[in-house]
Amino acid sequence: MDSILVTGNGPLNGQIPIAGAKNACLTLMPATLLSDAPLTLTNAPRLSDIKTMTTLLQSLGVEVTSLQEGQVLALSSHNLTNHVADYDIVRKMRASILVLGPMLARDGHAVVSLPGGCAIGARPVDLHLKALEALGADLELKEGYVHAKAVGGLKGGTVEFPFVSVGATENAVMAATLAKGTTIIKNAAREPEIVDLVHCLQKMGAQITGEGTSTLEIQGVDRLDGATHPVVTDRIELGTYMLAPAICGGEVECLGGRIGLVKSFCEKLDAAGVSVEETKAGLKVARKNGRVRAVDVVTEPFPGFPTDLQAQMMALMCTAQGTSVLEEKIFENRFMHAPELMRMGAEIDVHGGTATVTGVERLKGAPVMATDLRASVSLILAGLAAEGETLVNRVYHLDRGYERVEEKLGHVGAKIERVQGE
Ligand code: EPZ
Repeated sequence: MDSILVTGNGPLNGQIPIAGAKNACLTLMPATLLSDAPLTLTNAPRLSDIKTMTTLLQSLGVEVTSLQEGQVLALSSHNLTNHVADYDIVRKMRASILVLGPMLARDGHAVVSLPGGCAIGARPVDLHLKALEALGADLELKEGYVHAKAVGGLKGGTVEFPFVSVGATENAVMAATLAKGTTIIKNAAREPEIVDLVHCLQKMGAQITGEGTSTLEIQGVDRLDGATHPVVTDRIELGTYMLAPAICGGEVECLGGRIGLVKSFCEKLDAAGVSVEETKAGLKVARKNGRVRAVDVVTEPFPGFPTDLQAQMMALMCTAQGTSVLEEKIFENRFMHAPELMRMGAEIDVHGGTATVTGVERLKGAPVMATDLRASVSLILAGLAAEGETLVNRVYHLDRGYERVEEKLGHVGAKIERVQGE
């Protein structure tokens, strides 16, 4: 297993290109199942999760060709040879559940393994299943698999989510595009990745309105065409790299970044004493003066503070002046980076979904363990600012969501290298 060795090396300066969004690409790829015409995705990120989704779609009979070193994905599912999404693939990546809605909508039947939990929580899929039942699906759980049928096709209906779910909204929207009649989705997720999916589906001929709001209306159509669509910029990679100059000093321009993708995050950075300037090329970030100030954070569905940036923000708060309270309200177990940061001298008190962080002058490098995707990158951020060396182990978590992290940070002056594992 590879590790990443980071050595605190002072301010960072230069430009970091931000890739296409992992969480947009993971829902855009299954959308190919809705049409027998080709779907081409550009600005695709080169990540292991994308490879996993590719393997899953290919197991269903979808042709997936990776072009331009993985930045373009050409998908074509003119005929599906298999309607079973196998546990062996699904257990590796929860987003695999996103093949259920489109496959059911297109062919009237699908068998998908339940994803199982993951490090940050149980992450059930009950809302996905209830949404599909509201569209007339007949579901049966057998030996860890969802057996879904829609004899005569799905029918439009009303889906009302008790709380916001990104994935369940995505499954419902995709399924509704081919349902007979009108579907209303209430308390829909508003994330930019949902808006990006809707824009792609609209290009394919879907009739959808309300994207970016809590209510979506979908008029079902008989068939969808192909499309070519650029994957939206990854707002979580963007926010992550914006924190690099915030924690180390210097000035970094994140290419492709736009304020609209990270508005609530920028408000917190501003309050902490970090300036963000929108340029033609992206977002220029620098500390306004020395040490940042402690600010409180509550994670919420978009447009609130993103849960996927909570671990990274905690790393910054570990070096801030004062005490900050971080409340994680989306997932039940998303503070596993805290004990690892404490190994570096951070002062963190975790009680349930609340972490209280008292900033210290300087963190100390130490060997630490990555536990999940965003926790791993928060440890790298902490290592960039710490005194001495930090060895982050189990970086396969990192490779799921960040392409070439050592290259991107090395390019702006970080002392960082990948250590090949045995
Ligand atoms: C998506 O996960 C993202 N993943 C996550 O990013 C992100 O943290 C999350 O949305 C919230 O923004 C992808 O898009 C591939 P949810 P998703 O359904 O769709 C509960 C990363 O680091 N829930 O919005 O799985 C769930 O357990 C990943 O890139 C149910 O109870 O998240 C959670 O507590 C991590 N039943 C809450 O809702 C359901 O049927 C929000 O989950 C579905 C969800």
